[in-house]
Amino acid sequence: MIKELFPTPIMSVDLSEILDMQDVEKRCLSIIGKLSHHKLVPDGVSSYNSDKPVITDASVKDVASFIKMHIKQMEVAMGIFPLDFSNSWINVMPVGSHIGSHIHPNSVVSGSFYLNAGEGSGEFVIENPTYGQQMSIVGQNFSEYTKTYEEISVKTGLLILFPSYLRHHVTGNDYEGRTVLSFNTRYNDIKINDT
Ligand SMILES: [Fe+2]
Repeated sequence: MIKELFPTPIMSVDLSEILDMQDVEKRCLSIIGKLSHHKLVPDGVSSYNSDKPVITDASVKDVASFIKMHIKQMEVAMGIFPLDFSNSWINVMPVGSHIGSHIHPNSVVSGSFYLNAGEGSGEFVIENPTYGQQMSIVGQNFSEYTKTYEEISVKTGLLILFPSYLRHHVTGNDYEGRTVLSFNTRYNDIKINDT
């Protein structure tokens, strides 16, 4: 018998059934105003460097509560203290754009919520966190243990939650205006101090 040890929790859930995504995108974009260049999104634009948090804005309170419901499931599954949003931003990618490999430092769980994505959208690629430790393992047939990455196809309304330490990137994008709301989290200090 082979036992699975130290799994990585990834949550992906489609919120397009319960949220009017066109309306959500409109509301999110009106919070941030003009977007600027960010080095992680070549050719695209981002609100990462602006001082306007998106998900904690009162005008998208309903969206935040749906996302928090799912973050709660991650907290329970991982057995960690309650989380709050720390920062959030929007990236808009034109055709031909991509996002290089990165992690989200100073965060516990991170998320991507696809406000506008579809056929041809750059895929969300999660890199195998054990790969750097595998040294001499050579995959003959790439298995769950030896594969180097996992690609997740994205669409409007998809929410992906993942541990912030997980290295990930976005493949070349063929969908005009691929728009993503991303966020980080930190522990809720009050709840930690209550224990
Ligand atoms: Fe990211």
